[in-house]
Amino acid sequence: MSFEIINFVPKEANEELLESYFDFAETTFMEIYPTDPLVPRVLHLKLLLITRTGEKVIRKLARSSKSGEIIGRLYLMIITEENTGFKENKHSVEIHINVLNDLRYKSIVQEFLIEAIKELQCYEYVTTVDTCSYLERDWAFWEGLGAKMALEGAQNRLFMEDIDWSMIKEWRHGGHELAKKEQVDLFSFERCPEEIILEYTTTYSEIIRLMPLGEFDYIPEPTTPFTRREKEENHKKTDHKWYTLATREKNGEISGLTEILYTESSPHKVEQMLTGVKPEYRGRGLGKWLKAEMMVFIKNEFPEIEFISTGNADMNAPMISINDRMGFKRVLTEKCYIIKLEKLKKLMSININKEK
Ligand SMILES: CC(C)(COP(=O)(O)OP(=O)(O)OC[C@H]1O[C@@H](n2cnc3c(N)ncnc32)[C@H](O)[C@@H]1OP(=O)(O)O)[C@@H](O)C(=O)NCCC(=O)NCCS
Repeated sequence: MSFEIINFVPKEANEELLESYFDFAETTFMEIYPTDPLVPRVLHLKLLLITRTGEKVIRKLARSSKSGEIIGRLYLMIITEENTGFKENKHSVEIHINVLNDLRYKSIVQEFLIEAIKELQCYEYVTTVDTCSYLERDWAFWEGLGAKMALEGAQNRLFMEDIDWSMIKEWRHGGHELAKKEQVDLFSFERCPEEIILEYTTTYSEIIRLMPLGEFDYIPEPTTPFTRREKEENHKKTDHKWYTLATREKNGEISGLTEILYTESSPHKVEQMLTGVKPEYRGRGLGKWLKAEMMVFIKNEFPEIEFISTGNADMNAPMISINDRMGFKRVLTEKCYIIKLEKLKKLMSININKEK
């Protein structure tokens, strides 16, 4: 199979390359989500053009020499010094290799790995490669290389017709009782108000760090007022609405939060993002209250959606306990792997030598 590997910089790509790229991306999307509507290309392009401070993204494509068709993609995300989690996470690189499901293209995966190793030579601080996938053939590939499974999780979906509204009512009632008894306030926003942004982002960083991450040896990068505003801007550029609901205790502390993302370009779904409660305020029904209030908001604001989608680690028992009762169902299993860069280098040099 003859192919060439080319750099892919979306903002510099011509129309023809972009269209070939979308053809490829849509084929791989349909392999994972055969019944879901495609992401409209206009939105897909906007998503490709987004950049974030402290992240260096490298994309390469494999193009068939015969047909010109795109048959594979390499995505690398390296953390740079401006990243708020640089000190703790700089050793980690995120890698995604996607190749069309065709045995003829199997060797492209190894070619991409060699390309990735070459690129990473410029980043001496990178020592660990992280990857996640929903596809069994990807799991087999990484396991074949001796990568360690770091985390197993799922994409779960809650279809609107499956929601037990009487239970949601009960959870809200529990929340309102707690609010009266212990003077807990509920507040919401899209753009984080300037006067609470430091407090909110500090709480957010504390809570997100408590999410179980299995064997991954990195921390979710701290959120700061700057990174919050940058994310808000990026969501605006990609036509996403980002809604947050949070609780404040009588002592003035923010104790919990839940957030969702919605875009009119994908009107069939809402993405449930982080839900979290600070450890000292847990076990009082705040998690259930926040989720129940958000559910009512979603029903009123987006009555046309089919489902709410969320990702959860299998080891996250409290979150799964809440989600299961709400009616979330597992639709895809996701496995994440880590492997040392040194190990990959050794394996690839063996493969290079074998090919000679
Ligand atoms: C998940 C989380 C938000 C729950 O917050 P909370 O305020 O304690 O939630 P609630 O009190 O409303 O409900 C927790 C429920 O989980 C159940 N639960 C707690 N630990 C459990 C466990 N190990 N196994 C099964 N159920 C468990 C509780 O029994 C409770 O249900 P009940 O009140 O009906 O008995 C909180 O644990 C958290 O912030 N976790 C870290 C952040 C995170 O991982 N978020 C999810 C990723 S998006």
